[in-house]
Amino acid sequence: MRAYYFDNLPGDQRLPHDLQPYRPVEPPELANMKVLTWHIPIAGYEDKLEAIARDRGYKNRDTIDVSREGMGDVYEAKIKGFFEEHMHEDEEIRYILSGSGFFDVRETPSDAWIRIAVGAGDLLVLPAGIYHRFTLDEQDRIKALRLFQDEPKWIPHARSAATDSNEHRVEYLCTIGVGA
Ligand SMILES: [Fe+2]
Repeated sequence: MRAYYFDNLPGDQRLPHDLQPYRPVEPPELANMKVLTWHIPIAGYEDKLEAIARDRGYKNRDTIDVSREGMGDVYEAKIKGFFEEHMHEDEEIRYILSGSGFFDVRETPSDAWIRIAVGAGDLLVLPAGIYHRFTLDEQDRIKALRLFQDEPKWIPHARSAATDSNEHRVEYLCTIGVGA
């Protein structure tokens, strides 16, 4: 996993887009945004993942295969949708089984994008209310476990004035100490 400021330049979203000069973002800085990361090697990951899942109350999981072969006809539309800036009313929790991709999270109040490059063995938790988006990288495939508590509220709420006042967005801003 590697996190850094995104350059905001036009071009293929699947390229790394490192800001020049390079500006890394370390795990404690992500934690200040309530973005949590772990690395659990794939070999024998089950017990360690289970321990974290138990600790955080993630009772359920499923697998998502984001690739042209895995998604079929909806691939193009899904890829486009994942890259629209949005938030959810629940945590977004992903453990990467194979492949790689980029989660971009919005820093507030700077409004800068921070890009988190994930690969096999990375576990990422995005808090409810954080604006974010996802793209594949040039490998064009990622397979991940989606963990969740009960019924996940994964509806994407596109960034807008209305979403800005969604109670989960407002609560998120409170938890990071940014007044809404
Ligand atoms: Fe999302």
